[in-house]
Amino acid sequence: MAKPTPLVAGNWKMNGLNTALAEIEALSGLLGGKDTPACDVMICPPATLLSRLADAADGSSIAVGGQDCHQNVSGAHTGDISAQMLKDAGASAVIVGHSERRADHGESDKTVHDKAVAAWDAGLKAIICVGETESQRDAGETIQVVEGQLAGSIPEGATADNMVVAYEPVWAIGTGRTPTADDVAAVHAAMRAALEARFGAETGGSVALLYGGSVKPGNAVELMGVANVNGALVGGASLKAADFDGIIDAYRG
Ligand code: PGA
Repeated sequence: MAKPTPLVAGNWKMNGLNTALAEIEALSGLLGGKDTPACDVMICPPATLLSRLADAADGSSIAVGGQDCHQNVSGAHTGDISAQMLKDAGASAVIVGHSERRADHGESDKTVHDKAVAAWDAGLKAIICVGETESQRDAGETIQVVEGQLAGSIPEGATADNMVVAYEPVWAIGTGRTPTADDVAAVHAAMRAALEARFGAETGGSVALLYGGSVKPGNAVELMGVANVNGALVGGASLKAADFDGIIDAYRG
């Protein structure tokens, strides 16, 4: 059975001006100057930087992704961006269902599902995010919440090539707090089981399952070492090339 290909993806969120392109050059230099990591590397910049970042990353091993897409291909949706536009600008993937989109923009599982379909139609990999809030964790509902989000957000036809799943506990994002390794293991085991039950052992067993939420160089080895964790979705620590590379170190021998 094919093993998941680990991915370390940086989500710059609403950060990054033209000057941030220097971080891509620095990251490219760091990646080229060290052992090749046993993971794919991606940066998801704000849409304004996407094509310039794609140019800056050209010839390096850094892939480029979008942070969100609209579910429609085109039309009267002021301020939105389609998956096809992201692809056109040089993206190979797009994050959908990040908890900040779910919370700030009221996105439902059905919306996330439709965005993932739009990503696939445009030839992009969908990085589908799930995760419980602190009150849901306190109520003992974590596994149930995550399973429900997976069922509602992942379209039929998911494969290890067109999808990555990211487990991001909402209370761990940007807070410096992380679940214990045992807690991450329990959620990732449940996600793996749910994917295998729905898509079969081959597909379900080979989809990469990322952990996200306050991943830093200092905790990456422990978190990336948890069973069924196949990489990280990194916010704050992806903004500086040296920090991000310190996380990628978890995948260097
Ligand atoms: P953080 O963000 O690494 O800053 O906690 C993670 C994310 O939201 O993807």
